[in-house]
Amino acid sequence: MPTELQSRPQPRDGRPARFGAGELAQAGAPAAALEGVSRSYRAPARGGLRLWPRQDARAVQALAGVSLTVAPGELVAVVGASGCGKSTLLELMCGLQRPDEGTVACLPAVLMPQRDLLLEWLGALDNAALGVRIAGASRAQARERAAALFAELGLDGFQRARPHELSGGMRQRVAFARTLLSGKPLLCLDEPFGALDAITRAQMQDWLAAVLARERRTVVLVTHDVEEAALLADRVLVLSPRPGRVLAEISVQTPRPRSRTAPAVLEARRRALAELGMGATA
Ligand SMILES: Nc1ncnc2c1ncn2[C@@H]1O[C@H](COP(=O)(O)OP(=O)(O)OP(=O)(O)O)[C@@H](O)[C@H]1O
Ligand SMILES: [Mg+2]
Repeated sequence: MPTELQSRPQPRDGRPARFGAGELAQAGAPAAALEGVSRSYRAPARGGLRLWPRQDARAVQALAGVSLTVAPGELVAVVGASGCGKSTLLELMCGLQRPDEGTVACLPAVLMPQRDLLLEWLGALDNAALGVRIAGASRAQARERAAALFAELGLDGFQRARPHELSGGMRQRVAFARTLLSGKPLLCLDEPFGALDAITRAQMQDWLAAVLARERRTVVLVTHDVEEAALLADRVLVLSPRPGRVLAEISVQTPRPRSRTAPAVLEARRRALAELGMGATA
């Protein structure tokens, strides 16, 4: 029963996932390295006692034996059916969860969650500037940095708007600004364009490609949109239905910005759809 499931769990012992950021900071090291990662969720007993062992039939295994290496500056897209563990994978990379098995070592990472989690009592600009404020900047400095992005994101005029006064797509762009402004080297984006209409989505995809061309960030992008993955990614990781396992890694070797109809983009899209068992619709 869904009601019995845990809320998104914190690391069991209160410590963040075993991060090797120090080790990974050296030259030539990957931005993220996952090795044999498995993660299951368990149904908690009433009163918080756990009556079921880890391998219990009531457990939901989200990920099984996932290995992945992401190079600095690389954009890896992750596609897979709903419920195959994509969000879980990003949370592991950001240290919000720990794997049951395997290891996770990542540079400092920021998560743009699937739900925007904007603070209703703050205006849009202050929501975008939140990470900068938390990092110690003054309100004026933080607002100044966020304001520059607002224009690029087509949010001018909405700086003081509260989240409930924004459209779904605008909220997502504010959350995106907040993620970028964190300054973290590894961006974990969970369906960042999911709530956008087709036109704004295409604009935002072009904008993301341009941002990544000018600043060296590493991105892991979860998306349901195979075309988006092929358009933006250096590599597309295809996961199986739950429990998520790596079915294929498809490299897209053509420079950005890319045309949606570039042969390499179309080929990557076709291969990803075939891996997902949707070859006939490609
Ligand atoms: N906190 C939780 N407690 C129990 N089960 C969970 C929890 N979070 C996720 N799950 C389960 O783990 C599986 C993977 O969930 P996850 O959110 O990682 O999938 P996803 O690939 O991101 O799906 P979607 O594409 O729909 O966002 C699902 O079956 C889900 O029900
Ligand atoms: Mg998800």
